[in-house]
Amino acid sequence: MTELEDKLLAVLAEAQELLSKAADANTVEELRVKYLSRKGVLPALMSELGKVPAEQKPQVGKTLNQVKTGINAAFAEAQERLEAKADAQNAIDVTLPGRCRCHGHQHPITQVMEEAVAIFRRMGFVVADGPDLEDVWHNFDALNAPQDHPSRAVTDTFYFDLEHHDFLAPDTMILRTQTSPVQIRAMQAHPAPVRIVCPGRCYRRDTPDATHGMSFHQIEGLYVDKKVSLADLKGTLSYYAKEMFGSSVKIRFRPHFFPFTEPSVEWDASCMICGGKGCKVCKGSGWIEISGAGMVNPKVLQNVGWDPNEVSGYAFGMGIERIAMIRYAINDLRLLYENDLRFLHQF
Ligand code: PHE
Repeated sequence: MTELEDKLLAVLAEAQELLSKAADANTVEELRVKYLSRKGVLPALMSELGKVPAEQKPQVGKTLNQVKTGINAAFAEAQERLEAKADAQNAIDVTLPGRCRCHGHQHPITQVMEEAVAIFRRMGFVVADGPDLEDVWHNFDALNAPQDHPSRAVTDTFYFDLEHHDFLAPDTMILRTQTSPVQIRAMQAHPAPVRIVCPGRCYRRDTPDATHGMSFHQIEGLYVDKKVSLADLKGTLSYYAKEMFGSSVKIRFRPHFFPFTEPSVEWDASCMICGGKGCKVCKGSGWIEISGAGMVNPKVLQNVGWDPNEVSGYAFGMGIERIAMIRYAINDLRLLYENDLRFLHQF
């Protein structure tokens, strides 16, 4: 073995040793410069091949090639090792707890409203719409509200521009106090049969407390056709109650009065907390009041030019906040409007 071959093998051993210990890309680069660059160790040794006697050249050339291949392999190995290490450092730790991004969702009032609409749609009702800014005729007169009805008082209803308008004049503008004026609008817009629900906002000059707000939501229902009866109303509300509150819920009617229905009822659902046995929520009665309803007063049909001898109908109007409070056991209506996310996230 020649002296040059000894040197070459020593360089290979040294390079292999250093590269196997290289801990980062910078060190590998420094070694590349040291061994392989134009002025590096290996090219310097290669230039000595010229001085080797001719008969030794094949042997030394072979060793030189082995050393070159060996050094290149050592570089490739070092690079692979460092890349694998970087991959491991960047890898996802699947055992870490996830970072939860907060999703928005519908407000409980919207949820209940949409669910109520969906239930009535399954029974063939279509959604109707009316303005929040209503006139006295649609909100009171057409609905047979007498001129001295307490709900017409300026202390109960939001009137507009009373300096120039009489609060009893049919064209005076108000914020609607109920969704019932949409009954009138639906009957004016379509011939019988009419089967609509109208979800929407209503406004009353109430002082806000646990069960009252100045603005709230109702869903109104109206079905007018030939031979519609109170039994149809009961069947419809019974299905609604079962869908909304649970399949074992029963309903009952109590006599009541509304100017626009005759007969009028208030209807209760059996208490979904105690199953009708009596508890704190139903105040021991076993029943929970849901809303008003009744058979459309013939005078209302006449007010929109329909013949009460030809058609009859039923109507109901429910407070959405009340339904949401019953469903989610919320004891103060104001919680729904304070927009405290800790509260709203629960629904
Ligand atoms: N509009 C009535 C209210 O606000 C509810 C109702 C609607 C009653 C339809 C009977 C029929 O109290």
